Amino acid sequence: MPYLLGIDVGTTSTRALVITDGGDVVGSHATEYPLYTPRPNWAEQDPHDWWNATIASVRAALKSAGIGGEEIAGVGLSGQMHGSVFLDSDDEVIRPAILWCDQRTARQCEEITEAVGEDDIIAETLNPVLTGFTAPKIIWLRDEEPDAFSRVRRVLLPKDYVRLRLTGEYATEVSDASGTSLLNVPERRWSELILDRLELPIDWMPEVVESQEVSGSITADAAALTGLAEGTPVVGGGGDQAAGAVGNGIVRAGVVSVTTGTSGVVFAHLDRPRVDEKLRTHTFCHAVPGKWHVMGVMLSAGGSLRWLRDTLCAAELEIAGNMGADAYELMTAEAAQAPVGSEGLVFLPYLTGERTPYPNPNARGMFFGLSLRHGKPHMIRAILEGVAYGLKDSLDIIEAMGVEIAQVRASGGGARSALWRQIQTDVTGYPHSVINVDEGPAYGAALLAAVGAGIYDSVPGACEATIRTVDTPEVNARAHELYSRYHALYQDLYRQVEPSFDVAAQLVEDSQDMV
Ligand code: XUL
Repeated sequence: MPYLLGIDVGTTSTRALVITDGGDVVGSHATEYPLYTPRPNWAEQDPHDWWNATIASVRAALKSAGIGGEEIAGVGLSGQMHGSVFLDSDDEVIRPAILWCDQRTARQCEEITEAVGEDDIIAETLNPVLTGFTAPKIIWLRDEEPDAFSRVRRVLLPKDYVRLRLTGEYATEVSDASGTSLLNVPERRWSELILDRLELPIDWMPEVVESQEVSGSITADAAALTGLAEGTPVVGGGGDQAAGAVGNGIVRAGVVSVTTGTSGVVFAHLDRPRVDEKLRTHTFCHAVPGKWHVMGVMLSAGGSLRWLRDTLCAAELEIAGNMGADAYELMTAEAAQAPVGSEGLVFLPYLTGERTPYPNPNARGMFFGLSLRHGKPHMIRAILEGVAYGLKDSLDIIEAMGVEIAQVRASGGGARSALWRQIQTDVTGYPHSVINVDEGPAYGAALLAAVGAGIYDSVPGACEATIRTVDTPEVNARAHELYSRYHALYQDLYRQVEPSFDVAAQLVEDSQDMV
C-alpha cells in the first residue's frame, strides 16, 4: 500500500505526518525549536533548526508508522508563511529568517507602496503590503543591513528552504508565494513590474509551481539523512493556511473554515479572485489549481490564551503537569463557570498588533470592564469570547464580499475545546462543525502529495474521499442575541482606543533605554 508524507514547518515545531492512500493517519512526530525576539516586535528563527527538525521528525514519523522510506509515494510541504530566508551564492543562510509575526517593517511597507504605487500593488498582488509579508523584509535588509543584503542571491520561504535541502531545487508554489507581495496573484506568476520597481532581481526568486505539481525529488544526501528513498517526488505543497484548508476540505464554494491556532484564521474558497473593498482580508492563490481563497487573519487567537496560561495560570500548569493533563482543559473548565459575556468583561485580542480587520501593528490587547466580581474564570472566558468576536469580524467581511457561507468547519487547537466551539458558534451564529481529521496543514500537504503521486485525480477528489463532518453544534439563540450586542461593544472599544495605541507605541519606543 502506498503511503504519503506531509511535512509542516511551523512556528513552534516541524511536524511530519504519514497517512495511507485512504487518508488514515499512521505515524507522526513533531520537533520543537526556539523563536528569537532580539528586540520588541521582532521575531526570528534559524532555518537550520527547521532542517534539523525535519530530519528528526521524518525519521520518527516513519518509525512510528512502522514503514520504510521506500513505501512513501510522495512528499508534500507546508509551512509558516511570509518568512524570509536569505541565501548567499553557496546557499548558506546569511542571517536568521524574519518571521510572519515580526512587525519591524512598517516603514518599508510605506517605501514599497510609494515606489510601486498603491494601485499597481493592489492590481498585481490583490493585497496591501503588510508588515508580516516578505517583500518589506527584503527592503528592510537593504535599508538596515546592507552588508548582508549585498550577499543575497536567493530569497526563500520557510518550507521552500526545507525543499531546497530535500531536493536541491529552488521552488515554491502559488499559495505561499501569494504572501510575499511579489506575486501577480491573478496570473499566478512573479510580478516583474513590482520586482523591477523595487530593483530586486527576479532570479533571486524560486520557480513557482501549482501546489499539487511535483517540484523535485529527494536527493541521495537527503535520503541518507531522513530515511526517505532517493527519487521520491516532492510536490509544491502549500502555505500553512492553504494546506490546512485542503486538510479541512475547504476546496469548493460555500465551505468555510475557522482555525484557532496561535493565529485565528477564517478561510473561504473562491472560484475567481475577489477582494474586500477596504482590503481588510487577504486574497491569495489557493492550493487548488486555478482557484483562489480569501482569508481574515487574527494574529493572537490561541496565542492570547497561551499568554494568559503562561502569565497567570502557573497553578493550572502545575496541576495539569501532575495529572498528565492539558492546562488548557483546566482553564476552559474554569471559563465555563463564568456566564455568557463574562459579566461585562471584554477582551481585545491584539497582543501582537492585528491584521484583520485592523491592519495595525501598534494595536494591543486590553481587558475592558474589570470589577471586583471578576476572577480568573471571567478572564479566561473573556479571552475565548474576544477571539470569537475577532473571528466574527472576519466572517462578516467575507460574507459582505458576497462569498457564500453554507458550512463552517472548526479546526486547530481551539477546535478541541467544546466550550470554545460553542462560544464561537453562538458569537458568529453559524454552527462550527468538527470533521473526522484534525491534523492541520501536514494532512493537507500529504493529500496534495497524493494528488501529485497520481493516487487521486484532483485536490477536491482527494478531500471528498477522506474528509467528512462528524459533529455540528446548535446555535443558542439567546446567547447569540447577547453576543451580537457584546460584539458591537467590542468593535466600539477598538474605535475609541485606536489613537491611544499609537501614543502608547511611541511611549514604549521612547522608554526603551530606561530599564
Ligand atoms: C497567514 C499567516 C499565518 C502564518 C503562521 O497569512 O501569517 O498563518 O503562516 O501560521
